[in-house]
Amino acid sequence: MRVVLSIGGSTINPEGKPSLEFLRAISKMIKESRSEFGILTGGGSIARVYANAARELGANEYEADAIGITSTRQNAQLLVTALSGAGVDVYRHVLTDFEEAKGRRNKVVVMGGTIPGITTDTDAVLLAEAMGATRLVNISNVEGIYDTNPKKNPKAKKFAKMTYNELIKLAAENDSRSAGTHFVFDMLACKLIARSKVETHFVSGDSLENIKNAIEGKKHNGTVVR
Ligand code: UTP
Repeated sequence: MRVVLSIGGSTINPEGKPSLEFLRAISKMIKESRSEFGILTGGGSIARVYANAARELGANEYEADAIGITSTRQNAQLLVTALSGAGVDVYRHVLTDFEEAKGRRNKVVVMGGTIPGITTDTDAVLLAEAMGATRLVNISNVEGIYDTNPKKNPKAKKFAKMTYNELIKLAAENDSRSAGTHFVFDMLACKLIARSKVETHFVSGDSLENIKNAIEGKKHNGTVVR
């Protein structure tokens, strides 16, 4: 079974520095799993800090994105190191394009961002498409997909499951809100999982048990979209 893990920057770098505990734990889980993995890492706050510094120095949006991509790749390289330390058979370099990832077999592939203008949500789905993965597991600092932002509304309701179209509708509603609001999964990524019917699980990085169950397609506390 081929599975793509999309690991948010906030999970790799909570509070702005790498969580060695998480990196070691996820690496151990991957070592013990029978699935074949492709992994996409996000940039999180490190990407934002650098992109904003670049903007203040006069960078345009393309250049700010390019700096963000560098942060995602730095996280990817850190994960490669952790995986390797855990004895996982992993490519020792961070891959930079999907064509390269496509032909790889029997070894874990790790990638960061690819081109300006998108986010690692979209990269993760493209990697899943390229590898022919049947499942995508999105690991972030929220426990799933909610009807409203759970960080702002304590009464937000979490969906246990939803369809691709329901997710697209919710992402569109969130897109039209004021600038700065940010839906869990970007619109392009939502549309790509729908076109290829990639079963997508949204779980929090706080529970390894949930991540493991999502990888295996078992019941967990997050949201499954299919
Ligand atoms: P992320 O995917 O981590 O951004 O990439 P995000 O969605 O803002 O992060 P979360 O979900 O809140 O943690 C970091 C930044 O890198 C650039 C974008 O600027 C993005 O915001 N990026 C990333 C690209 O330009 N292209 C890519 O393929 C990936």
